[in-house]
Amino acid sequence: GDYSGHYRPQLHFSPPQGFMNDPNGMFLDAEGTYHLYYQYNPSATIAGNQHWGHATSTDLYTWENQPIALAPDNSTAYIFSGSAVTDPNNTSGFFPNQTNGVVAIYTLAGPQQQVQDIAYSYDNGYTFTKYAGNPVLSAGSAQFRDPKVFWYEDHWVMVVAFSQEFVLAIYTSPNLTSWSHASNFSYHGLLGTQYECPNLVEMQVYGSNETMWLMYLSINPGAPLGGSIGEYFPGSFNGTHFTAVDAAARIADWGKDNYASQFFYGTGTEAISIAWASNWQYCNLVPTGPAEGWQSTMSLPRTNYLRQGARNQGYTLVSLPYDLARLRSSESTASTTNLGANGTLFADVSGGSGAFMLDVNVTGLNLTGLSNTASINFTISSSGSRESITGGIFVAGDSTMWLDRGGISGWDNVYNTNRFSTALVLNNTLDFQVVVDRSIIEVFALEGERSATAVYYSEALLDTVVLRSGNLNSGVSINAQVRMLNGTWG
Ligand code: FRU
Repeated sequence: GDYSGHYRPQLHFSPPQGFMNDPNGMFLDAEGTYHLYYQYNPSATIAGNQHWGHATSTDLYTWENQPIALAPDNSTAYIFSGSAVTDPNNTSGFFPNQTNGVVAIYTLAGPQQQVQDIAYSYDNGYTFTKYAGNPVLSAGSAQFRDPKVFWYEDHWVMVVAFSQEFVLAIYTSPNLTSWSHASNFSYHGLLGTQYECPNLVEMQVYGSNETMWLMYLSINPGAPLGGSIGEYFPGSFNGTHFTAVDAAARIADWGKDNYASQFFYGTGTEAISIAWASNWQYCNLVPTGPAEGWQSTMSLPRTNYLRQGARNQGYTLVSLPYDLARLRSSESTASTTNLGANGTLFADVSGGSGAFMLDVNVTGLNLTGLSNTASINFTISSSGSRESITGGIFVAGDSTMWLDRGGISGWDNVYNTNRFSTALVLNNTLDFQVVVDRSIIEVFALEGERSATAVYYSEALLDTVVLRSGNLNSGVSINAQVRMLNGTWG
């Protein structure tokens, strides 16, 4: 793959060529290497002809492309989404002579039925053999897919979607080859038209030693902003049944390009996820295919927690970039320790990798008596083409955070919604981070309680950052830095 193209993210994963959608089979192997598989069409820059592409990394940013891991046997049944596990105790019987066996569990999507198949690997997940006894699970359904498997105390658990019946089914197994139905989690949250890519994962409660369970689910089409998006349910799991803490629908990301998020297997209660940073509404239409021969980017790897925030009702998913500090240049391009109530910070971010970040920390905010125009906002623009993305927070009253990609040329009705926003409940502090990487922007706010992912395709690289405060209280203190990020594909 050529990773020098104008639209090519420099620290996010994108496929060498062809079309990519969901992350699949993500796991940490016995030697400390992370494996990312993904829905892959190696022969065109539009969806179809599904294989599992493969890449590996030891830091989740520096990826090495690997040969295709799973290919269809013929052109009538494709390899759809799924997961992978390690089987150190040889529960499957595939691995009598090793403790690092890997099993991939995926949907074989045929014209009449979608069934769950498995394949095993003796070499840490680089090559796979399809199990001769496939399928391991079938239900006579044409819309039955995306198995996510994990080990729970003394058995395997699979969560898999009956997509058009809005059912997430939980199955259990002693050996990965025979599965019994245990329970259903049905009709929860926003339904959209289909339930896809469920995940069930244990994660830490922020700042405590406790853990909780999260059911994560993707809906498509029919997301509030159009097309596809992820949602989640905090709750408990006893090995067979998942119980949500409440009936609330919680959208995982307030941008439009965060779908089919999957959590790595084998990282304990450190819950690390990667999502497909696109939307089924326009993933086939964006210009990277025609211009550079590749289509779609993954989100940043994210560390996740559940948090019972003072600013929120109930539990909220906290997502932050996974150890991004390792890519940050040591010197900031521009910084201020106090921007003030009405200030401007300017940064020229041209000449680097094309990737950079803005970090903002506000203390001493006093919300009483502020005008409705009180805000802290940013404009990220191109000095050559005058294109821009804007975003920020209206602080007073019903506080909102917004992100707007409408100032990017060519970003029109084909791609639909340009402006995204989320309601915030603020106190006297706030923080946000913005990560920009050539054709993708990710925003994290309130220590990760809110995140937004959006792709954009500007004619010229964005090379200028302006941060402004306006009409804030006089005692406010705003610390901000703009830093270049090092590319990992060079
Ligand atoms: C979600 C999805 C999955 C399916 C895969 C096919 O984006 O539709 O449900 O397994 O993509 O590529």
